[in-house]
Amino acid sequence: MMRTRPLKVALLGCGVVGSEVARIMTTHADDLAARIGAPVELAGVAVRRPDKVREGIDPALITTDATALVKRGDLDIVVEVIGGIEPARTLITTAFEHGASVVSANKALLAQDGAALHAAAEEHGKDLYYEAAVAGAIPLIRPLRESLAGDKVNRVLGIVNGTTNFILDKMDSTGAGYQEALDEATALGYAEADPTADVEGFDAAAKAAILAGIAFHTRVRLDDVHREGMTEVTAADFASAKEMGCTIKLLAICERAEDGASVTARVHPAMIPLSHPLASVRGAYNAVFVESDASGQLMFYGPGAGGSPTASAVLGDLVAVGRNRLGGTTGPGESAYAALPVSSMGEVVTRYHISLDVADKPGVLAQVATVFAEHGVSIDTVRQQGKDGEASLVVVTHRASDAALGGTVEALRKLDTVRGVASIMRVEGE
Ligand code: HSE
Repeated sequence: MMRTRPLKVALLGCGVVGSEVARIMTTHADDLAARIGAPVELAGVAVRRPDKVREGIDPALITTDATALVKRGDLDIVVEVIGGIEPARTLITTAFEHGASVVSANKALLAQDGAALHAAAEEHGKDLYYEAAVAGAIPLIRPLRESLAGDKVNRVLGIVNGTTNFILDKMDSTGAGYQEALDEATALGYAEADPTADVEGFDAAAKAAILAGIAFHTRVRLDDVHREGMTEVTAADFASAKEMGCTIKLLAICERAEDGASVTARVHPAMIPLSHPLASVRGAYNAVFVESDASGQLMFYGPGAGGSPTASAVLGDLVAVGRNRLGGTTGPGESAYAALPVSSMGEVVTRYHISLDVADKPGVLAQVATVFAEHGVSIDTVRQQGKDGEASLVVVTHRASDAALGGTVEALRKLDTVRGVASIMRVEGE
């Protein structure tokens, strides 16, 4: 039965995502009302630039005073799409204190302060939903939190940043260098004027922290995520990857250790076999591969950014929170009961592709192989190409710990016959 009193919704931010949320709330009003069981009413919109024309939004709803808006006391749901840590954090906690539930798209805030925000929501008996914080329209938070709640997730392996996937895909398909591909991504509007958050892996690391926390029922903060950007990936790395039947992707990898006693979360470029489903994720698309005990392998794929796709996730949360509100209940909060230790990168075990520039003379290969053996790193394949007394040596290892590999590389650098370590790339997804 339809309740006639509408659910009052305040929007914090009316940029690319916020304006789409407002538009869909208006154009799909009847469907949203039918699905929730009550109409939803846009009760206020907090913006920084009040003079900007905002089509379809009653100018009387616009305010620059976001604090006064969230303190009104009659709001049911606050939608936060302003991003960043402050004032978003204070506005969200103030919204809880004044009786509203919150839907947020703020990955940086959730990755940094998710536990405190969940605690605030619980203290006030309110919902905190954030499907839009990770991979835009792709349903990930709810499947991990609810659909897979009865399973045991062992691994989440994902492309969660569209900008970097666009750049790497361009490098792969055209042979372009990093800068050339970045320039094209900027010209097409994929990369921001300052691309640091994307290309240095900060954006993906925040998403990895959120995914790992939910997947492993353990608090994983941004600081727990090992992060390496993709600015050092070269056309030569792609050529090496091709020779191995691989491509290169910036991956967010959240793993349970084999003994189940700890977890790790990391973001870095890695080679993956062309046969892996993530290898065929092109352009600015995102995809996340989830491996669980009972379900086996699942793949989630779609647009990971942009106004409409992100608004789709926000509105899904709005409907869920609206239903909870009408039912006088709340949805699942933070689940961190497992409290597994988050191990450092040194304990991660994977395979490596290492390119070395060496002197081409008797005994060099044996010297290099000895260093690997001394550090307990087993070699899978070695390929050498010599030219004018120098050689390029490509070593692919069996699975080894990052700490053992790091020790190996440090020792290799000290050999007189090793002129340089041209690249080190992890090999994933095998
Ligand atoms: N800048 C991100 C990306 C989108 O390129 O995927 C928002 O997280």
